[in-house]
Amino acid sequence: MKVMYFLVAVLALAFSVASAYDPSPLQDFCVTVNGTKDGVFVNGKFCKDPKLVKAEDFFRHVEPGNTSNPNGAQVTQVFVDQLPALNTLGISLARVDFAPKGLNPPHTHPRGTEILIVTEGTLYVGFVTSNQDGNRLFTKVLNKGDVFVFPIGLIHFQRNVGYGNAVAIAALSSQNPGTITIANVLFKANPPISSEVLTKAFQVDKKVIDYLQKQSWYGNN
Ligand SMILES: *[C@@H]1O[C@H](CO)[C@@H](O)[C@H](O)[C@H]1NC(C)=O
Ligand SMILES: *[C@@H]1O[C@H](CO)[C@@H](O)[C@H](O)[C@H]1NC(C)=O
Repeated sequence: MKVMYFLVAVLALAFSVASAYDPSPLQDFCVTVNGTKDGVFVNGKFCKDPKLVKAEDFFRHVEPGNTSNPNGAQVTQVFVDQLPALNTLGISLARVDFAPKGLNPPHTHPRGTEILIVTEGTLYVGFVTSNQDGNRLFTKVLNKGDVFVFPIGLIHFQRNVGYGNAVAIAALSSQNPGTITIANVLFKANPPISSEVLTKAFQVDKKVIDYLQKQSWYGNN
């Protein structure tokens, strides 16, 4: 009996680890529901009973983002939390609106590669490779119709360098790619990261760190 419990525990663990990384679906879809009332299967999240699934579950409308913020840019996510049908499908989308000079500040998606198309305006985009690769910067100026890819985990940014507004649509290779905005994690951490860590890491005085930690850091979403 004990062996049986052990096997069940190992299997449960293996299953939970596997479902943390955008597993391939074992059914056509697994529209997310909260809780089990109308749910039947578990595959990372509870899935709605397929018999109850409607066209509406696969649909979402996205308005242009409001760029009246310190970055002059707004990311509108369509991840699994916004579109429950994305659950287990390994894909998601974001719309990014930019005012002139607007910036989507340096950030990374820990779980997703991003492919982006400019549908309006002109963007200066780039990413930096890992330390092992020498932290090389790859940049490009993109016009309407141009496509660029940001490999999974690498820090990247987009800035509007045109005269008018700009719009980009991005697809990401995870239902929940996550976003880590570099300035925010360093200077807006809660509780704050010790200034002894940050002064040494950035080779600056405590005054500079104090200043940075006082900023509001809008972020990407
Ligand atoms: C689940 O609950 C959260 C928080 O109440 C809500 O925002 C979200 O829309 C719900 N999702 C679904 C699929 O019902
Ligand atoms: C955009 O955001 C600004 C600042 O928060 C706000 O004052 C304004 O009403 C918003 N505009 C729209 C159209 O929602």
